[in-house]
Amino acid sequence: MVRHFTAARLVVASHNGGKVREIADLLAPFAIDIVSAAQLDLPEPEETGDTFTANAVLKAAAATQASGLPALADDSGLAVVALNGAPGIYSARWAGPGRDFQMAMALVQEKLGENADRRAYFVSALALAWPDGHVEHFEGQVHGKLIWPPRGEDGFGYDPMFIPDGYGQTFGEMPYDEKQRMSHRAVAFQKLIDGCFSGS
Ligand code: IMP
Repeated sequence: MVRHFTAARLVVASHNGGKVREIADLLAPFAIDIVSAAQLDLPEPEETGDTFTANAVLKAAAATQASGLPALADDSGLAVVALNGAPGIYSARWAGPGRDFQMAMALVQEKLGENADRRAYFVSALALAWPDGHVEHFEGQVHGKLIWPPRGEDGFGYDPMFIPDGYGQTFGEMPYDEKQRMSHRAVAFQKLIDGCFSGS
């Protein structure tokens, strides 16, 4: 049985202001006091897990242990089928310290070379941890294919080279709201809300 969330406060285990705001917006209907790991000055744990879920769990558990409050963390990235799932959990790292995603996309393209298998998917893992050690986790994916050269100025990260199945536009060309409705993050959040926040 999935544990229902009944606390008044929740730590979002992220130091990324944009991510915290997005999560706060999604949870707005549930009248929870959201506080970020940065606001509480919590240390950022090293992401040593070998899956998205392991890293999300590790981040949520660290924040709940340090704060004594329930904590929500996410971990996400792009998995390329012909590259055995790379860059995967290393998606941010492929962009280097300067967070250069033109470079990261070029690296994906270079490694794919002439490979005709252009399938890829984004993954979002969410973990909700309670101070007593209980953890719930949920995963969302969106499948599609990679194009080259990249197209579109919107979105971030690998968005301009990813076309979701059934669509003609890349995530970099698609209106923000449309991506938000169908993204890997949206799928994972819907599972989290259905499992832990909705109903009684
Ligand atoms: P993290 O979840 O903050 O560790 O970041 C994961 C990395 O995956 C990001 O820096 C992006 O490169 C990539 N990523 C995750 N979600 C998306 C997305 O929706 N579009 C494009 N890139 C993404």
